[in-house]
Amino acid sequence: MLSSPYTSMSRMIVPHATPTPAAPRAVRKAVVPAAGLGTRFLPATKATSKEMLPVVDKPAIQYVVEEAAAAGLDDVLMITGRHKRAIEDHFDHAFELEQALTAKGDTVRLDAVRDPARLADIHHIRQGDPLGLGHAVLCARHHVGDQPFAVLLGDDLIDPRETLLSRMLEVRDRYQGSVVALMEVPPEQIHLYGCAAVEPSGEDGVVRVTGLVEKPSRADAPSRYAVIGRYVLDPAVFGILEHVPPGRGGEIQLTDALQELAAGGTVHGVVFDGLRYDTGDKADYLRTVVQLACDRPDLGPEFTAWLKEFAAGLEGTGAERGRFAA
Ligand code: UTP
Repeated sequence: MLSSPYTSMSRMIVPHATPTPAAPRAVRKAVVPAAGLGTRFLPATKATSKEMLPVVDKPAIQYVVEEAAAAGLDDVLMITGRHKRAIEDHFDHAFELEQALTAKGDTVRLDAVRDPARLADIHHIRQGDPLGLGHAVLCARHHVGDQPFAVLLGDDLIDPRETLLSRMLEVRDRYQGSVVALMEVPPEQIHLYGCAAVEPSGEDGVVRVTGLVEKPSRADAPSRYAVIGRYVLDPAVFGILEHVPPGRGGEIQLTDALQELAAGGTVHGVVFDGLRYDTGDKADYLRTVVQLACDRPDLGPEFTAWLKEFAAGLEGTGAERGRFAA
């Protein structure tokens, strides 16, 4: 059981579903919203989406699709916006490139070019106007049908070594309903996230979500549990998204729809304390690239050695620092 002081902040009493261990795994489809305007990353996102920004040598969204595939979700629907073409092309075959690499016998790069299209059965749908994350998820309704499904935000990376999504799918199997991923953040950061009111579930790392509020002020936040970009949603969310009015920022908020589900006692949270990166934020993007580059067997040793020298230089004089500017 969680020992955090933030686990039982809510006074709301709601009936929650009990675990049903025999429930079959029903989740096969993943939805990846990637239609946001990416204003925090302008001007880089003027002509491309933030989900296509490279993290080492792959676009951020490829890590997200790899994560879905690793959790057994072999049908992935991309919700695309004005930069639809680049995302579609990335997850399609590139015949000219493949021919050129085949002719050169460059099998390593040939595999790298082919991999994105082989990850899953990938579909695309356009969100006409970026009316909010809730609206983006609603765009998936016909593709998803009446089955539960996962949502992975295209700019939110979970370290490839983590198993968060698989844990969330297990929780859905046992409790049914919907599952959100929660991360404890410092109080001064909670206004950047959706925030969950929670109570203990009786199970380690799993909480009952009794309420959700989008980007609350520090004073209004019911806890320090931030909702991060992984969800396993019951299809009931679509009926709610159809009528939920625009919320914070004039956008149709997924959090507002989840609040309705939480009030009905059908939302659980999986508490995550692993590595997660918001690549839509400039500083976090830089940290992501450095961290994942250090972890790469092909680049890591040389890059880490340079990084150590660079960091040591930061402690030194301006002249020493200048050596790295060239
Ligand atoms: P964000 O709020 O991080 O995306 O949405 P944004 O609006 O592009 O960000 P900034 O603040 O302007 O930089 C979270 C996720 O939801 C998607 C985004 O692409 C991102 O993956 N999204 C958001 C949509 O697909 N459609 C929308 O209407 C809004």
